[in-house]
Amino acid sequence: MSSGGSAQCQTPWSQSKPGCSSPRGDPFNSIGLDWLRTKRGIKWRRFGPEVIPAWLADMDFPPAQRVTEAIQELLDGADLGYPGWVHGTPLRAAFAERMAQRYGWVLDPVQVRETNEVVQGTLLALLHGTSDGDVVAIHTPTYPPFLKHIPTLGRALLPIPMSDERHGWTVDLARLDHDLAASRCRALVLVNPHNPTGRVMTVEELDALAHLARRHDLLVISDEIHSDLIYPPHQHIPFASLPGMAERTVTLNSASKGFNLAGVRCAIAHVGPPRLREVWDNAPPTLYGSPNIFGVAATLATWQHGEAWLSAVVAHLDRQRHLLVDFLTRDVPSARHHLVEAGYLAWIDFRSLELGPDPAATLLTSAQVALQSGMAFALDGGGQGYARLNFATSKDILCEIITRISHATDENRNPH
Ligand SMILES: Cc1ncc(COP(=O)(O)O)c(C=O)c1O
Repeated sequence: MSSGGSAQCQTPWSQSKPGCSSPRGDPFNSIGLDWLRTKRGIKWRRFGPEVIPAWLADMDFPPAQRVTEAIQELLDGADLGYPGWVHGTPLRAAFAERMAQRYGWVLDPVQVRETNEVVQGTLLALLHGTSDGDVVAIHTPTYPPFLKHIPTLGRALLPIPMSDERHGWTVDLARLDHDLAASRCRALVLVNPHNPTGRVMTVEELDALAHLARRHDLLVISDEIHSDLIYPPHQHIPFASLPGMAERTVTLNSASKGFNLAGVRCAIAHVGPPRLREVWDNAPPTLYGSPNIFGVAATLATWQHGEAWLSAVVAHLDRQRHLLVDFLTRDVPSARHHLVEAGYLAWIDFRSLELGPDPAATLLTSAQVALQSGMAFALDGGGQGYARLNFATSKDILCEIITRISHATDENRNPH
């Protein structure tokens, strides 16, 4: 392992744009800091060159070649006019086909709508499916934009705290049942796989949630954006595929996390409840915008031709998640963390390390590593002492991140 300081001095970074093969057999290990620092996205632009960013949920890898080709094809054909989609984009059928193939969930493409973003789809579902003042439940910690934006729609949040047990993060179903009844809750925003804990709900947990959804007559908005990145033996089960759930569920998904395409701004919503679909469709057609041709082409390319790339990235991330646990156990033993079951985001409890309420802010200065602050992931201080680390990078860069944190926290514990 390298010691702290400048990453480029310590490790044999590739200096060129990553290609499709690497001498070490894992193309995702061949990305280099020089190339990453040329990127225009906010992840690599926000901080100076002395900082290694591991905060935003973008992977450090270039997209699948099929995606580049699909976009290039549009450019080559100079085909950038209004699209010819009369009854929705081809994404509707492609999504239905993919859900049937991957999960045995048979859905009617006629019930699928396009959005630009998963968060937009979530807010549209709440806007059309609930009323002013209605209560909306969500497990916390959670993806910060939900905590920020749901109240701006005039809906009241009911946070459902998850518990950090010895074996991982869990939901207290008895308490949930009680809180749903006490608050007369109308909707549940389910994030599964979960950000930031990396949990994948088991079939038993989902069945229990389905039971509660029926019992409390909830609209369920199921954000499944991380579902492409699941590590065996965990399995993704679309919530709407459970018996009787499709007609009360809006499922949101996109290729943006699994295929690293957040910038193309393209997502889909399977709108199960017929009445909600009607209200959605009756809104002025241009109010929410329409999908752009690059986003649709890129997403279609991943869903139809991206399986090999996806398997390779999941295999790489699987190694990275184990490395992270090994590194943390060895080099930052007081940090508490569970091996994630999906995705590339690790939720780390730094409370034993005396890094203050916002370890990300402390480590930005002391370790020159940018983690995502835990503060915004829960209300009432629930995220204090936590930070989220994105490990979707090369082995060397992850090693450097942990080395820097380890050195900084050693200093923190033994200032002299
Ligand atoms: C759970 C979850 N939902 C939604 C999003 C954002 O998706 P979009 O940019 O399509 O709104 C993210 C991004 O990290 C996420 O983790």
